[in-house]
Amino acid sequence: MKTFTVSLLLVFTLLTSGCQADDDYGEHEKGWQFLHKQRDVAAVEDPLYREECGSCHLAYPPGLLPGSSWKKIMTRLDNHFGDNAELEPAVQKRLTTYLLMHSAERSDYRRSRRIIRSTNEANAPLRITELSYFKHEHNEIPPRLIKDNEKVASLSNCNACHPRAEQGFFSDREIRIPGYGAWDD
Ligand code: HEC
Ligand code: HEC
Repeated sequence: MKTFTVSLLLVFTLLTSGCQADDDYGEHEKGWQFLHKQRDVAAVEDPLYREECGSCHLAYPPGLLPGSSWKKIMTRLDNHFGDNAELEPAVQKRLTTYLLMHSAERSDYRRSRRIIRSTNEANAPLRITELSYFKHEHNEIPPRLIKDNEKVASLSNCNACHPRAEQGFFSDREIRIPGYGAWDD
């Protein structure tokens, strides 16, 4: 009985110290993250955002860009990368608030923090794919797997290779490039 209590205590100590040592997770997943798969950025949670901003491409998780980028995007929706993505003023306002409340600098998820550390917010790009952090992570993928791959076509299609992009998962283990498979570098 005594050994049982001691070993339970030991397991508990190991688990809690492991969690404290690694602060590189989102607030929600601290402590019990060993039971979850680690998220890289917060998942998209707003159904209106998913509906309005997820009809032409995936609904990009807000923690992938600084607020200054989202602000620029949301004030130019009539000329949105060559498309018209204009919204009713009330919807535009609500979604802007949602994006700014969950932008990278407001998030403690590890990829959001990296994005902020590596971006000049005053001069932040309009695209995730133009962030220096993003370019750095993707510079070893040959063009035949991207633009010469009809199932991918562009790096903007995150979910072609990261199936759970909208839920905020980008880890190497989950990458599946269409026509190529898992990624082992
Ligand atoms: C009518 C279709 C359409 C709608 C609706 C739409 N987008 Fe887009 N979006 C596009 C196109 C087209 C691109 C450029 C894609 C490319 O270059 O491959 C794009 C690109 C983007 C990018 C840059 C992706 C990159 O390359 O890093 C972001 C961010 C983005 N959209 C956010 C939004 C947000 C936020 C909304 C909702 C307010 C929205 N989009 C609604 C068509 C749309
Ligand atoms: C052609 C497939 C492909 C597309 C499309 C793609 N990625 Fe990736 N991504 C990769 C690969 C492969 C890696 C790993 C690169 C390496 O480790 O050398 C990666 C790495 C990452 C990482 C770092 C993950 C880690 O654990 O190191 C993030 C974050 C990421 N991608 C986000 C995105 C986002 C956001 C988009 C869309 C705007 C996107 N990716 C589009 C293939 C892709």
